Amino acid sequence: MKYEMKQEYLLGIEKIDAQHARLLELMDEAHSLLKDENKLYKCADIRKILAGIKEYVKFHFSDEEQYMEEIGYEGLEEHRKLHQTFAVKVDDFDVHVADLSLGTQDGMILELLEYLKAWIQEHICEADRKYVK
Ligand SMILES: [Fe+2]
Repeated sequence: MKYEMKQEYLLGIEKIDAQHARLLELMDEAHSLLKDENKLYKCADIRKILAGIKEYVKFHFSDEEQYMEEIGYEGLEEHRKLHQTFAVKVDDFDVHVADLSLGTQDGMILELLEYLKAWIQEHICEADRKYVK
């Protein structure tokens, strides 16, 4: 496994941690797809992974925002914007799958992974940690 839940990602809220683990699972799928040399056409799999991320966005962000509301977190609105930016970016990836070719598909998977890696660091390890305090 290249990507999986790590101690440093845990926030200590069971439901949220389990959802974050799901995102890491999807990243791992993307990584396996990138490395898969036996597969010629990867677009269907890229779509499947993006569909998984969109599903994740739908339930996870609303659960997280609800939690922040419950604890009266003052940074909620700002945090909501970060979630929206992520959702827009994922939609953007999805739209561009239609333009992919054999020569560019791996590039998109790589770009997606880079984006998600940065998200784990900047969002899960920093922005999310703020509402746990
Ligand atoms: Fe968040």
